[in-house]
Amino acid sequence: MDVYKVKGGKRLSGTIKVNGAKNSAVALIPASILANSPVQIEGLPEISDVWTLKNILEEIGGEVSFEDGTMNIDPTNMVDIPLPNGNVKKLRASYYMMGAMLGRFKHAAIGLPGGCFLGPRPIDQHIKGFEALGAKVTNEHGAIYLRADELRGAKIYLDVVSVGATINIMLAAVLAKGQTVIENAAKEPEIIDVATLLTNMGAKIKGAGTNVIRIDGVEELHGTNHTIIPDRIEAGTFMIMAAAVGDGITIDNVIPFHMEALTAKLREMGVDVQEGEESIYIPKAEKLQAIDVKTLVYPGFATDLQQPFSVLMTQATGSSMITDTIYSARFKHIDELRRMNASGRVEGRAAIITGPTPLTSATVVASDLRAGAALIIAGLLADGETEIREIYHIERGYSAIVQKLQGLGADIRRETIDPVSSAKSDFGHSAN
Ligand code: EPU
Repeated sequence: MDVYKVKGGKRLSGTIKVNGAKNSAVALIPASILANSPVQIEGLPEISDVWTLKNILEEIGGEVSFEDGTMNIDPTNMVDIPLPNGNVKKLRASYYMMGAMLGRFKHAAIGLPGGCFLGPRPIDQHIKGFEALGAKVTNEHGAIYLRADELRGAKIYLDVVSVGATINIMLAAVLAKGQTVIENAAKEPEIIDVATLLTNMGAKIKGAGTNVIRIDGVEELHGTNHTIIPDRIEAGTFMIMAAAVGDGITIDNVIPFHMEALTAKLREMGVDVQEGEESIYIPKAEKLQAIDVKTLVYPGFATDLQQPFSVLMTQATGSSMITDTIYSARFKHIDELRRMNASGRVEGRAAIITGPTPLTSATVVASDLRAGAALIIAGLLADGETEIREIYHIERGYSAIVQKLQGLGADIRRETIDPVSSAKSDFGHSAN
């Protein structure tokens, strides 16, 4: 069993570099399926979700290489074989294979996606979009089958603002006949990034980044070269970490405009956030004030930063409340933080945290990707050595996290431990 061991209590300083955006990467890679010649994507993060997507593209006949963050994808010989099981179950974003394969082959069979459990995560809006474009969609033994004689542009109003549905419908619509209009579309920067790639491949897309996106279908798309945007969630995680344990940290390769909601909330807490052109500097935070936060769709406060931010709240004076309006069950980390002496409780869709509380080390479990990031920050704050388990969640989204934090002076290492002897020591621990 692989774990992270974090010895807390040290102040960190220096510069930490942000990678390409995971949630863009997982859409840009499937988008390449729609081209009739090679696509090159630069700046991709070396995370397990990206490697899994590489394997999926190879399964359908793509020729793919991935080195130093650059992926070369030759989609010419890809075929529409069904993908009911296997790699598609490893990540949520495999749902983009539906839109991309439907767009290219007018046919796809994709197993229901995996990914973090954060409460119900339906894909009804994706399916509503595919059906509006003319696809027949069925759920057969846990896999979604999509079939169309031809795809025709349509007006689609999303009942829920959804990143995944917005991108998936764009993927299916770029090669459809006529115009598609997506209303109540999501506005996340990752949507603009995918639209930029598709546009450079020859697609006609207007309005990406606003709530109405218009797509005029074209006959074919060609290869191109694309550089991915920086990961605003990784950047946000580092900003929160800098406020929690920093002694002057520069976060490099960030678009400060993408960080506005977090920056505003950090400032409200008393953190001095200094924006550069492509970097953010956070000096040592002296005193943190309790505040309330509500997650919202972009440009609101990102749900993906709710869990790391709640760790910072344990260090603020007073009672803070963080409400997640996007995911009802994204609070499993609160129990783990309580093991580390935090004072927090979950009420409905909100966590209420009282501080400041000195955290103490414990053996904790990363229940999902961002919970894992939250526990790393908690471990860096805590007195003693914290062991974080189920780190595969973390490695789905944060590349070289151990090395990056070591670069700031953190005492963190990745270790393989024997599950049997560690279970015995757990027993000893809980018996005390
Ligand atoms: N929803 C529906 N029906 C749908 C689609 C979504 O009801 O058909 C609901 C969801 O249940 C949720 C809300 O709409 O309550 C928003 O979901 P959205 O579709 O926007 O989420 P997603 O596309 O599945 C992406 C990111 C998530 C991030 C959310 C919200 C990817 C691969 N994932 O998920 O990222 O939390 O948008 O911003 O892009 C993460 O990075 O840790 C992560 C979970």
